Amino acid sequence: MNVFILGSGGREHALAWKSAQDDDSKVFVAPGNGGTLLEDHITNLNVDINDFDAVATACKDHAIDLVIVGPEVPLVNGIVDYLAAKDILAFGPTAKAARLEGSKVFAKEFFKKYAIPTAGYQSFTNFEEASDYAKSVNYPIVIKADGLAAGKGVVICNSKEEALETLNEMLNNAAFGDAGNQVILEEFLKGEEASFIAVVAGNKILPLATSQDHKTIFENDTGPNTGGMGAYSPAPIVTESIHKQVMSEVMQRAADGLIQESSPFYGFLYAGLMIDGDKIKVLEFNCRFGDPETQPILMRLETSLNKICMAALQDKLDTINIEWKKESAVGVVISAPGYPGNYPTGSEITLPATEKSNTKIFHAGTKLDQNSLVTNGGRVLCVTALGRDLADAQQSAYQTIQSIEFDGMYFRKDIGNKAL
Ligand code: AMP
Ligand code: GLY
Repeated sequence: MNVFILGSGGREHALAWKSAQDDDSKVFVAPGNGGTLLEDHITNLNVDINDFDAVATACKDHAIDLVIVGPEVPLVNGIVDYLAAKDILAFGPTAKAARLEGSKVFAKEFFKKYAIPTAGYQSFTNFEEASDYAKSVNYPIVIKADGLAAGKGVVICNSKEEALETLNEMLNNAAFGDAGNQVILEEFLKGEEASFIAVVAGNKILPLATSQDHKTIFENDTGPNTGGMGAYSPAPIVTESIHKQVMSEVMQRAADGLIQESSPFYGFLYAGLMIDGDKIKVLEFNCRFGDPETQPILMRLETSLNKICMAALQDKLDTINIEWKKESAVGVVISAPGYPGNYPTGSEITLPATEKSNTKIFHAGTKLDQNSLVTNGGRVLCVTALGRDLADAQQSAYQTIQSIEFDGMYFRKDIGNKAL
């Protein structure tokens, strides 16, 4: 089976690595990164994944049986619809179903309509009206740009001044372009976050192992938000009763609601949760796998990823008996100096000569430059390890990091601590 993974991050390296474990699979990635290039059974293709025609041509050229779409931008822009029209099988939601991530206003209205627990909110397009509202509420409050903003469109405001400044930036100064033409002012929620990711096919839901991400750049959840600085799986905060509650009140309602809206969801559906005691609320939905959650989750997956995606696309998701390694997994992201702000690229990376069998160094922002591996992005690597428990996995991941080097490399020292 020929599988084509779209994207270039740590998530896509992990998807390609897992997909390539099937004996009968041949895996292509576009554009991929230095890590996917160095893998034996994976081929990088120099294709712009936002050029749907180029993707379709590559699918025909390489007799692709299954496309798995990593990032949200092509999904929200309708790549799955485009490929389907050319009889190319792609795993991921249609543009209509992907609105759950593509528009926060759509998502909030959807939550309300289908009784999915979430924070209270108001939406605005007008600066004066939004400001009047911001002057009348208690702080902190959360302001969110409606559209896609690469994880940067959410600002937690601790004062009225901060809120007015943020509204001015989004609504008057177009700090997020069109994505900020409409904003949400949302109640601030307390609690602990977890990522709940499932494979969804119409009304059928196959929950994946639970995980938790570390969003801020500095230890103890301080500093600006990033794409994610590390993740672990399983997440002990998701107890059996929380799991049941999420399945019935969040995932099933979302899957059924999207069918009602004539846009059934096929793909990875990711609910970002805030858990406070026995109460759950949805912070956001993503229409794709998480990065870096994918890395520890796929390290633990025993079942074939290709089989799961094919079963979902053929409406046979209920025939899959998914199996997980009993071990825990921890993934620690190593970033370039300055990330999530500006950062240099092109620094030479030293990796350990051999990798231990319980450890995998997934690449994100790396590329090969005349045979040397160099940095090529903000998040550079995600060192992921399995262990008998989270503490053991954590220790292995940090031990491997000791033999990795590049100029100014940075990583959080507390990935997984929350669960210990
Ligand atoms: P989102 O992109 O909506 O998941 O928001 C990014 C991050 O902002 C989340 O992972 C939370 O850490 C934080 N956040 C978002 N919404 C809220 C909220 N209503 N209350 C508290 N924190 C939030
Ligand atoms: N790790 C958060 C995300 O993928 O959006």
